[in-house]
Amino acid sequence: MVSANHPLGQPADIDAVESLITRLVVTPDEHAERAARRAIDAGLPPIEVAPNHGKLLHLLVAISGARRVLEIGTLAGYSTIWMGSALPPDGTLVTIDNEPRHARIAAANISEAGLTDAVELRVGEATTILAELAGPASTSAPFDFVFIDADKESIPEYLRLALLLCADGAVVVLDNAVWHGAIIDAADPAARGIRAGLELLGSDNKFDATVIQTVGTKGWDGFAIARVRPGNQGEPGNASVAG
Ligand SMILES: C[S@@+](CC[C@H](N)C(=O)[O-])C[C@H]1O[C@@H](n2cnc3c(N)ncnc32)[C@H](O)[C@@H]1O
Repeated sequence: MVSANHPLGQPADIDAVESLITRLVVTPDEHAERAARRAIDAGLPPIEVAPNHGKLLHLLVAISGARRVLEIGTLAGYSTIWMGSALPPDGTLVTIDNEPRHARIAAANISEAGLTDAVELRVGEATTILAELAGPASTSAPFDFVFIDADKESIPEYLRLALLLCADGAVVVLDNAVWHGAIIDAADPAARGIRAGLELLGSDNKFDATVIQTVGTKGWDGFAIARVRPGNQGEPGNASVAG
């Protein structure tokens, strides 16, 4: 809450606070940080999550006890490494990106982090790969944790497919849920996709969700965090509210 006691800081303060909390509390993952530096050297856009959000993903994977993680949007593997390093020894992570150049850099970073055996990197359109994973010929085990961080227009479809792919009680995290406030009037296609995703999370009681606003070096944004209510995986709608 912004009040006289808690005034909204200036952007310079916000960046300084983020540096401080990252230094004091987060302990950035050295492999993830090297992955981010390699991405910058290769000219990839600096659109990976911030270190404190990477650590949040790491903690959520650990706290939920997830063994099977699905990531939509790999880039150079920064968030992949944060989540992969929280998996139990027999845990696995499937990450998807449609840019072969991003995937090549991510594969090298994942290997350098010692996660090649745990991480399966799939290159292609996320909706196509997710539909394959959910299809009748698939042998894919259900996912316990899903992180959605790719194109925003497809978010409702990603959430719909995530329901087909999730285990009971799975955790779903959606990045960029506030999009600099653009979700209020949702004029551009990205903001419309996010807004539609939030409407789905709020209206389909197969999900139990909230949204946290954030500020930091990545600007004003936020993330949605949801749980698939036990007994409710499958197509959206027709939910039971048990659990
Ligand atoms: C914001 S970046 C992911 C950042 C990464 N999660 C991290 O924090 O380190 C988004 C990625 O999604 C990929 N992407 C965008 N649209 C996609 C689509 N339709 N299918 C698969 N990948 C897509 C982009 O190529 C890009 O690498």
